[in-house]
Amino acid sequence: MSLRLGDEAPNFTAQTTEGEINFHDWIGEGWAILFSHPKDYTPVCTTELGAVAKLKPEFEKRNVKVIALSVDSVDDHKGWIGDINETQGCNVSYPIIADSERKVAELYNMIHPNALENLTIRSVYVIGPDKKIKLIITYPAATGRNFDEILRVVDSLQLTANYSVATPVNWRNGDDCIIVPAVKDEEIEVKFPKGHKIIKPYLRTTPQPNLN
Ligand code: BEZ
Repeated sequence: MSLRLGDEAPNFTAQTTEGEINFHDWIGEGWAILFSHPKDYTPVCTTELGAVAKLKPEFEKRNVKVIALSVDSVDDHKGWIGDINETQGCNVSYPIIADSERKVAELYNMIHPNALENLTIRSVYVIGPDKKIKLIITYPAATGRNFDEILRVVDSLQLTANYSVATPVNWRNGDDCIIVPAVKDEEIEVKFPKGHKIIKPYLRTTPQPNLN
């Protein structure tokens, strides 16, 4: 059965460009993003892995580790990293899993044979410190993902994990948040001392609680 939000992220051991890892041990106490791409030495994938390399400091600020995956070998990954660094002006310094036996791809439902035979499509799994799956995104091979959007979602996930808020449509870091329905009106002033607006009884907003 395919994985769903809230499920535990399956653990595995795998060879990567940075040696063998046990996935849960590698995640440690923080957040993780596991993302697959179809194939090394292909154009869209080259731009994506470069973009992730450039965003790595932003992920680190948020205590998020990133790890890529395709069904190519460690040697292929290592050779291709040279091309990514050269063409994208970056330094790929996160591991890439070599899943030539497709073990992780099967575990995470990353092969969709009716869309792309025998190769991994563009899957993204965001995993929380509790090792539960917080977000699943699936893109086809020909469409590069927007990793700024994935960073935006991480901001939302971390905010909603720590405060009784949700984030509205097109929310960006710094925008007002929505007070979740479970918070009673009489609790709002204590829980949200920065202020709030009641637009409708079910639509109440507050300044983003984790900013000074
Ligand atoms: C690409 O990365 O450009 C790509 C890979 C597999 C299929 C289609 C495009």
